[in-house]
Order: sequence, then structure tokens, then C-alpha cells
Amino acid sequence: MKKKVLITGGMGFIGSHTYVALVGVGYVPLILDNLSNSNPLVLERLNRITKVRSEFIKGDVRDRLLLDKIFSENQISAVIHFAGLKAVGESVEKPLVYYDNNVHGTIELLFAMEKANVRTLIFSSSATVYGDPKAIPVCEDFSLSATNPYGRSKLMIEGILGDLYKSNPRWNIACLRYFNPVGAHPSGLIGEDPSGIPNNLMPYILQVAVGRQKKLYIYGNDYPTPDGTGMRDYIHVMDLAEGHVAALKFCEKHGGMLTVNLGTGEGTSVLQMVHAFEKASLRSIPYEIVARRAGDVAKCWADPSLALVKLGWKASRGLAKMCEDSWRWQNNNPDGYR
Ligand code: WQD
Repeated sequence: MKKKVLITGGMGFIGSHTYVALVGVGYVPLILDNLSNSNPLVLERLNRITKVRSEFIKGDVRDRLLLDKIFSENQISAVIHFAGLKAVGESVEKPLVYYDNNVHGTIELLFAMEKANVRTLIFSSSATVYGDPKAIPVCEDFSLSATNPYGRSKLMIEGILGDLYKSNPRWNIACLRYFNPVGAHPSGLIGEDPSGIPNNLMPYILQVAVGRQKKLYIYGNDYPTPDGTGMRDYIHVMDLAEGHVAALKFCEKHGGMLTVNLGTGEGTSVLQMVHAFEKASLRSIPYEIVARRAGDVAKCWADPSLALVKLGWKASRGLAKMCEDSWRWQNNNPDGYR
């Protein structure tokens, strides 16, 4: 009997790619998404990729009656929880909206899971919980701090999950701390489609490449890095998706509570990313160096060794593949899913 997994926020960038990875190893995913930051067209794309009719329910994780209905009408074996807001700048302007969506939404989900006796949860956390790390590469036992409501919401949820597990060790929980997800499924049918002007580097580069933005603004080239620009751990979204499958299988087999970094362990600068993208896409990316962006750190990349030891998972796709797959998605869909 195939196991049914509820994916909250499954129509989003990482959720949709995780959906594909789950189907690929025999799970039956059920998507719950309020479409506040995603497009219903994703469903038709998922059907084309997986050749399986996707199950989708439009709704919000804060709707406890809907959650109870979903759990009573479906034999759910586990939940992968992506649903939430994730724009750092927006979280500073609208903290209550972020705590309501991210923290309150998670609590409603946990109550519904407890009531239905579904106790396996994979949570979408973020390297943002490390704040400005004291050393590089970043390990899971480093001190945690948040510098904005988005990061604080992730930190709060990790704390809630830890307390929940301590109160009842029958829970099986994995907190996955993503570094910088980029790339797209090799079909070019699904990818990152931010609304408005992108905050993140790769989506902005992609919009310059298709002519939606004039040039890239590089936020500072006076950091203590080889070329002066900020360095991050960019990870292919398909590697990330496979990391979720590995975490789910770990939870099913071992139970307990686990927190792991999902990164490559490699640092890449902004200029290195620009040059790698130009090579992969044969498009030039004009840029202008401007002032540093408030809140940015100079360097941040993962020590991914715990995920290898515990999950037997390691990222396998390099920078060239990230750029090639990103470009195929954006070139095939210049206006995203619109
Ligand atoms: C990467 C580098 C910028 C845009 C953010 C969130 C984090 C997580 C991942 C959710 C930095 C530079 C960027 C641009 C630039 N999201 N840059 N020009 O800031 O590492 O992390 O996304 O969990 O929470 O904070 O990613 O892509 O914004 O920036 O020069 O137009 O690119 O300065 O060095 P970041 P990013």
C-alpha cells in the first residue's frame, strides 16, 4: 500500500520539486496550498512531469476544520510542512502576518496531526536561524539567533517542535535547515517564480537574462572574500527535494527528533554565480556594484556532514547544473507561470 504524504505549501518552489521526488520513490503526495504565493498552473505541470494526477486541496493550514477534514478523509502517514511566508524584508514590515502564517499555522497543523495520531513531520527550516554565524562552515550545534521576524518565526517553530517531542517522544520530527535553494527540475516545467521584484540573487539574475530587469545590482564588493562579494551555499532544488525524501525515510525508520543542514558545503560568491550563469546561458548579465544590503553577512555555507551520516544524503549537482536548469526554466517561461 503506497503511503500518502500531506505537503503543505506544495505548490511552491521547493514544495513542488519535493512532490516530484516523492512520486519518484512511490509516495502518494496530497498538496494543501492557499495559493497566496503560488500558481494553480503548477498542478498541470506536475501532472506532466509525474504522469500521475496530482491531488490538490486549496486551503490554509490555519483552517483547523479543513485540516481535521483532510486527516479524517485521507490515510496520511506523514506531513512535509512548507506552507509559510519567507521574505525577510516583508517580515520586518508585517511581523504579525508572518507570526500568524508561520507560527500559528504550524500550531494548528500540529494540533490536527495529534488529533489524527499522525506524528511524522518534516519541517522546512532555514539557515537564517544561524544569524551571522561565528565561524564557517556552519554546524547544527552553532548558536542560533534571528535578526528579523521571518528568521524568528523559524526559530520559534524549531523550539515548539523540540518541546513537543520532549512532551511526547512518539513524535518523529526532522527540521531541515536550507541554505540557498536555486535551480529547477530539468524538464524546465517548474521553477522559482517570485511575485514582484525578486529579493534573491538567482531569480534576479534570471529576470535580467530574459530582459525583465535591466541589470543586476550587486550589494557590496568590499566584504572579506576573495572577490569582495558575498558568499553563500547555493544548493540545487532537486538535491534539496531528495534531502526531504531522505529525511522522511529516516523518520519512518528511526523516529526521534533530528535537525540537519541541507547545503553543499561549498561557498560561491555573487560574481562567481554571475560568471557561472553567463557561461551556462550564453547571456551576459550587466551589473552595477552598489552599497551593501542591511542584514547581509559576508559568508555563509554549511557543514553538510551530519545529513550524510544520518540521512545518507549529499548534494550532487554543481553550480553549472544549477545555472543550466534555472536558465531552461526561465527561458521556457519568461513570465513564470503567468
Ligand atoms: C545572496 C547573495 C546578497 C540579490 C535569503 C534569505 C534566507 C533564505 C535564502 C529563506 C548575498 C547578493 C542578492 C541581489 C545581490 N530564504 N544579492 N543582489 O540573503 O543569503 O538568504 O534567501 O529561507 O532566509 O535571507 O539570499 O539570494 O537574497 O542573497 O548582490 O539583487 O546575493 O548580497 O550576498 P540570502 P539572497
